[in-house]
Amino acid sequence: MKEKIIELSKQIRQFDPQNKQQLEEFKIKFLSKKGMIPSLFQEFKQVPPEERKTIGILLNELKQLAHEHLEASALKFEEIVSQTVQIDTSLPAASITGGRHPISIVSRDINTIFERLGFVIAEGPEIEDDFHNFTALNFPEEHPARDMQDTFFIAKSPDIALRTHTSSVQVRVMEQSQPPIRIIAPGRVFRNEAISARAHCIFHQVEGLYIDKDVSFADLKQTLFYFAREFFGTNTKIRFRPSYFPFTETSAEMDVSCNICGGKGCTVCKYSGWVEILGCGMVDPNVLEACNINPEIYSGYAFGMGIERIAMMKYQINDLRLFFENDMRFLSQFSSLV
Ligand code: DAH
Repeated sequence: MKEKIIELSKQIRQFDPQNKQQLEEFKIKFLSKKGMIPSLFQEFKQVPPEERKTIGILLNELKQLAHEHLEASALKFEEIVSQTVQIDTSLPAASITGGRHPISIVSRDINTIFERLGFVIAEGPEIEDDFHNFTALNFPEEHPARDMQDTFFIAKSPDIALRTHTSSVQVRVMEQSQPPIRIIAPGRVFRNEAISARAHCIFHQVEGLYIDKDVSFADLKQTLFYFAREFFGTNTKIRFRPSYFPFTETSAEMDVSCNICGGKGCTVCKYSGWVEILGCGMVDPNVLEACNINPEIYSGYAFGMGIERIAMMKYQINDLRLFFENDMRFLSQFSSLV
């Protein structure tokens, strides 16, 4: 029996598996129920008592050796496996999935242009009180925009609502700082509108505000002209039409020459050659006063535009709902624009 044990331990030591299968074969040959080592333990029952102690020790050592050798071999084999799956740095990178939403792209592009002119990004809450959304902006008590039909109210007296425009951020900034103020405020706004190809109850606006001494309408025009040319292209023309907003006096709406047909006339500009993109004007002195800025010393201009509208023009999208549906067939078209 002793010789058998010595012979087997030799075999075990020499065993050098080259793959997982050989490892398995080793296990079956030596250690499985009917394997050689368990069979030796069966034979051990016949070993005369005087030899039992020494043989018993040898047998246990053999069993331990087999187990250790198996584990060591398996470990070596795993190392080989893990080496073969090491990262190949020469492989091309996996393609990045996902991308920015077109509204984010346009919003960022608008912000960047104004930041170049020294405007700073400002933010305000989406849930607003009546003062910041309406009263401080010179909305008369009976103005229809305050109506339930336009505004999503969250609470009554005091009135709390989802902001209907980012002009509320003007008020918050003016309350907290003194001129010169030059901010751009992008954000989400909410209106109680039926959802259609041209309207949605959630959309995005960018508000601009500049307050300082001697700010004039000419400054407003030049700033917006710069913006239009940077955003839509250097051939872009602008025009102003008189308008009315409670928070500006003088008020205007600005059109840009249609960037689809170059002003010749098409379905996008309804054959007029012009597309309205924003409202603007000189900040009404009442608004400055409501925000503790002295209108005798300071003046300023403000403007506001809808980001969806600009994005629709830029990418020639004819249904506003596409921006909100998260359809991958739509969104993936913008993923390369980053
Ligand atoms: N708040 C206006 C709206 O939601 C947009 C606007 C018009 C903002 C004229 C202005 C402005 O700052 O001067 O329709």
